[in-house]
Amino acid sequence: MSFIRDPRVTVFPDEQTAARVVAVRLANALQDKPDLVFGLATGRTPIALYDELARVTISRNLDWSAATTFNLDEFVGLGPEDPGSYRRFMQEHLFRHTNLRPERINFLVGNADPDAECDRYERTIAAAGGIDIQILGIGTNGHIGFNEPAPGLEARTHRVTLTIETRRSNAALFGGRLEQVPAEALSMGMATILQARTLILLAHGERKAQCVAALVNGPLTTELPASFLQLHGDVDLILDTAAASSLTL
Ligand code: PGA
Repeated sequence: MSFIRDPRVTVFPDEQTAARVVAVRLANALQDKPDLVFGLATGRTPIALYDELARVTISRNLDWSAATTFNLDEFVGLGPEDPGSYRRFMQEHLFRHTNLRPERINFLVGNADPDAECDRYERTIAAAGGIDIQILGIGTNGHIGFNEPAPGLEARTHRVTLTIETRRSNAALFGGRLEQVPAEALSMGMATILQARTLILLAHGERKAQCVAALVNGPLTTELPASFLQLHGDVDLILDTAAASSLTL
């Protein structure tokens, strides 16, 4: 008997088609369970998904008022109103297009006391009954959330020092100025992520091909945190052809 299950892999011709299919799936899930608990991600990857979700929210008159959200991570030092914060990113790309209730939008607060904030977040997720569907991107170095490659990984929400690669890929949020990208973040840990009931990881573009192939075909290793998704029984990898181009299926 094996405890390791392969993630399900679905390859779409392009990012837009993938985003549309996932948005419809999330909309259906919300209509079936109005008090759904969403785990959400930031970065370039989910933008097309959030655009589609905004569209389907209008076309179906979707009611988000009983839903709850938790985002994966936030920069240390940035308050919710800071233009570079992930909280602002989510407001712009998704929240303002929905009737989510502000008190049901959960975020790590980057300018709070870090240790107390990480504890508070874990307790809040537990009190909400856990996350039903967690959306994930993947860093080119195989990180998920801000769980960066390292000799050891943290299980729970924690403070993390960002790699230069990760800071570089976030520079666009700070007018392209790498030195403005905070050096630290707060992030859900690996166990927090793996306890979500369903995981949907999106990846597109050639630059994600290697880490996607390592996630699916490689060994479990803390040097590629996303490889731990192989331990979860309900993971969908939603790829475009470029991101799937190095896979052995
Ligand atoms: P990206 O980042 O969507 O901007 O490529 C993904 C990630 O770092 O998790």
